[in-house]
Amino acid sequence: MFNTQVSEKEHDEARQGEALMLENKTEKNDARRLYIESYGCAMNFSDSEIVASIMMDMGFQTTSDYKEADVVFINTCSIRENAEQRVRNRLKEFTSVKVKNPGLIVGVLGCMAERLKAKFLEEEKLVDVVVGPDAYRDLPNLIDKVDDGNKAVNVLLSREETYADVSPVRLNSNGISAFISIMRGCDNMCSFCVVPFTRGRERSRDAYSIVKEAEDLYDQGYREVTLLGQNVDSYKWSSEDGSDSVNFAQLLERVALVSPELRVRFSTSHPKDITDEVLFTMSKYENICKYIHLPVQSGNSRILDIMNRTYDREWYKGRVDAIRRILPGCAISTDIIAGFCTETEEEHQDTLSMMDYVVYDYAYMFMYSERPGTLAAKRFEDDIPEEVKKRRLTEIVDKQQQHSHRNMLAQVGKVQKVLIDGYSKKSKNDYAGRNDLNATVIFPVDERFKPGEYVNVLVERCTTATLIGKIAE
Ligand code: SAH
Ligand code: SF4
Ligand code: F3S
Repeated sequence: MFNTQVSEKEHDEARQGEALMLENKTEKNDARRLYIESYGCAMNFSDSEIVASIMMDMGFQTTSDYKEADVVFINTCSIRENAEQRVRNRLKEFTSVKVKNPGLIVGVLGCMAERLKAKFLEEEKLVDVVVGPDAYRDLPNLIDKVDDGNKAVNVLLSREETYADVSPVRLNSNGISAFISIMRGCDNMCSFCVVPFTRGRERSRDAYSIVKEAEDLYDQGYREVTLLGQNVDSYKWSSEDGSDSVNFAQLLERVALVSPELRVRFSTSHPKDITDEVLFTMSKYENICKYIHLPVQSGNSRILDIMNRTYDREWYKGRVDAIRRILPGCAISTDIIAGFCTETEEEHQDTLSMMDYVVYDYAYMFMYSERPGTLAAKRFEDDIPEEVKKRRLTEIVDKQQQHSHRNMLAQVGKVQKVLIDGYSKKSKNDYAGRNDLNATVIFPVDERFKPGEYVNVLVERCTTATLIGKIAE
């Protein structure tokens, strides 16, 4: 089951050197290979980097081809029925490789692992190991068990685990932008949501380890970090002796102070918790990007109440007004659920009118999908017919497209500071980057500037999703 094949490139690298390189080659020859694929939110992608780090400490190397792997992990999402379906389809492809190569270890990680626990092993006979989001430190032990011919499960949730001391291995990274997980879990029990069950209680990570991670990334050449949590505004950490206590606004400030050249983003803000202090901190530092993801879910107060979001329409509008007042021009994005239990046509209209009020820059829009075990599944009937949900979603999506376009058009003619991410997907003659507001900006390559550098771009035109321009002299 050990994969001893070495790629051409590795052969060449090994041949170049002396004894040390030969040693490396032997290591490479012996190393087992890990392939890891992630689904769901940024949190999951960030967790996969923790998993890769733990597995590399065990001597694994990562590979980008699952067919040459000794261990294949799929880091899963449970948020909607179709997210789980996508994972199951992909898992079939992995297990079909296992039929030919029985030594292959297939592991299911993340939220579906936590939701389904050992049941997963009954449902998917070819899966060897099931690991929940708080149990990744146990991977060495679990892989040992599988090596001994057993199946292995650890789905214990923790009140403390933040992996603060694990240094993530950046996967699929452009070397410019990275995620930093600042907290885990969620205490908010929104009635539709499975996350509190799959990720457990909310806990905040040591502020010093967060700032240190940002500093290390900056030293390695990264120029943008995104601080991640399901509800970043309730970040709260105190040192053990109680001498230092940090809330989200203060953490944001500490990370912004790492360097004015390091852009800071964050996600997700909860409308009930986002404070003016956070908004003032954003306005104080140029390098904190003026972009807030503020999921509304619904524009109707009765629906928000039964969703257990703990704010109403007026409160949400008040928070948007505060953003407009303190951070003029700040981009705002949202998540919207169409067809939640008992939603009437008038209540759906309230969501559309809320969109008109805010004119969101971006939106992630979904049909309600009942999740087993959630409060909504227990209390309410999923009674909006599929075609009604679809039609409401279409109305929401159509409106958002108009609004996105309108917001893009408003940026035409302006000079914007863009962080170059790399080449445009469509042409090597163009660079792609993002502005402060998180919009993608495409402009002709100029050899004086490299990916990872900032450049001022004059926006000349736009599509619904992209700004197009040229470097402003
Ligand atoms: N913590 C974030 C959301 C994380 S889940 C927040 O509070 O906003 C991402 C989005 O998925 C949610 O905002 C919601 O719009 C959507 N979502 C969650 N559960 C869902 C469900 N059962 N059906 C449809 N969409 C859902
Ligand atoms: Fe889910 Fe609500 Fe927590 Fe977001 S805040 S993760 S929607 S329970
Ligand atoms: Fe999905 Fe889990 Fe994130 S359910 S959205 S991967 S927290």
